[in-house]
Amino acid sequence: MSSETPHFAADFLWGASTASYQIEGAVAEDGRGETIWDRFSHTPSKICNGDTGDVACDHYHRWQEDIGLLKRLNLNSYRFSVAWSRILPNGRGPVNQAGIDFYSRLVDGLLEAGITPSLTLYHWDLPQPLQDEGGWLRRGIIDDFVAYTDVVARALGDRVKFFITQNEPWVFTWLGYVMGEHAPGFTSESVKPALVTTHNALLAHGAAVKALRSAVPDAQVGITLNLYHVDPATNRPADLEAAARHDGHLNRWYLDPLFRGHYPSDMVELWQADLPDIMPGDMEQISVPTDFLGVNYYSRHVVADAPGGHYTEIMTVPQAGEHCAMGWEVYPDGLYAILKRVHADYAPRAIYVTENGAPYDDVLTEDGQIHDAERTSYLQRHFAAAAHAVRDGVPLKGYFVWSLIDNFEWAFGYSLRFGMVYVDFATQQRIVKDSGKYMAQVAAARS
Ligand code: FCB
Repeated sequence: MSSETPHFAADFLWGASTASYQIEGAVAEDGRGETIWDRFSHTPSKICNGDTGDVACDHYHRWQEDIGLLKRLNLNSYRFSVAWSRILPNGRGPVNQAGIDFYSRLVDGLLEAGITPSLTLYHWDLPQPLQDEGGWLRRGIIDDFVAYTDVVARALGDRVKFFITQNEPWVFTWLGYVMGEHAPGFTSESVKPALVTTHNALLAHGAAVKALRSAVPDAQVGITLNLYHVDPATNRPADLEAAARHDGHLNRWYLDPLFRGHYPSDMVELWQADLPDIMPGDMEQISVPTDFLGVNYYSRHVVADAPGGHYTEIMTVPQAGEHCAMGWEVYPDGLYAILKRVHADYAPRAIYVTENGAPYDDVLTEDGQIHDAERTSYLQRHFAAAAHAVRDGVPLKGYFVWSLIDNFEWAFGYSLRFGMVYVDFATQQRIVKDSGKYMAQVAAARS
């Protein structure tokens, strides 16, 4: 093994992440109900190449093979999400036992393989009937989310002890209800729909934490945020303030209510015309203590002041350095910085990197392999940044790479490959990439 392999504690969780709609397929099987991503992906022009998640990686039928891949990568944890509409096809009401059975078999299979299941309750596939009533704009969604959480917790909580309530509330609220790039595809000139849906989502998170604690008293419970390292383009005061606003928009609008019980005052002032209604007790509900924070880290943003610019009067300034196929800057130092900062400013009890990874134009070569040196280097440098943060006192307890397998990358369909394992979507054949072999070495070194 390379001498550069970073060192982590023996009980460190090394895992891979996936999400239900991105891998499962089988969208009309065993009673699964329609979701906003089924509707959105079947709407012309929304997804690259007209791709949908109808088949995806066919994980619904190949989950045993996929557990085998986790084993080959020597991972001791797996982060997956449950499709709400497999459990409650209409979003609320009758429970679909076949849906529970699917996840129950998956969990049993993971435990038999010595892999700790890490379950995300909501990774964006809202049941369409709930969207028809307003989705996350409707405050009543909180009760629906709690009822769903309760069913999952009671069915699986005897074996699953690690729960993430929601994945990246910034993404599903802003991209879904203001920017129109994700389901349900709404656009808005005002930021209000994002702030209202965010408030309801955070309230639903808080209520779900309580439901999980009562159903599964020994559970570790947290939420996953997409966090960015933000730098000002110059040291001009206007750019420093722009960077603070961008950080307020992406990072602090979520971290502050969750860990401090209030929205950030500078942003409240900026967005005062569009604030959600805040009822007595709301901020206490949102800031209910959790066991960990999940951090999804992909890139940094360098921003400049731009009067008239959307949302916060900023513009992002493209950087000359290295980029992945998504166009995101590759910036491992940003992972170190964001982990240190979250620890210093918010002190979550524990932190997990719940997603990190990158797409590249992978080529299946004549030897039948994928020599994805760029991804291997990407992972190696980000693992080193995480190890540095651990040495400097950050309570980082695990690291999940996005993703186990190439999959349906939302609006980009199958055009972007993030996996440590290649998927030939015509045959569903899986091939471990060189980055997957590197992962296997790192994970094996933990003890
Ligand atoms: C994150 C999502 C995940 C995946 C990665 C690339 O924002 O949580 O589902 O699409 O980006």
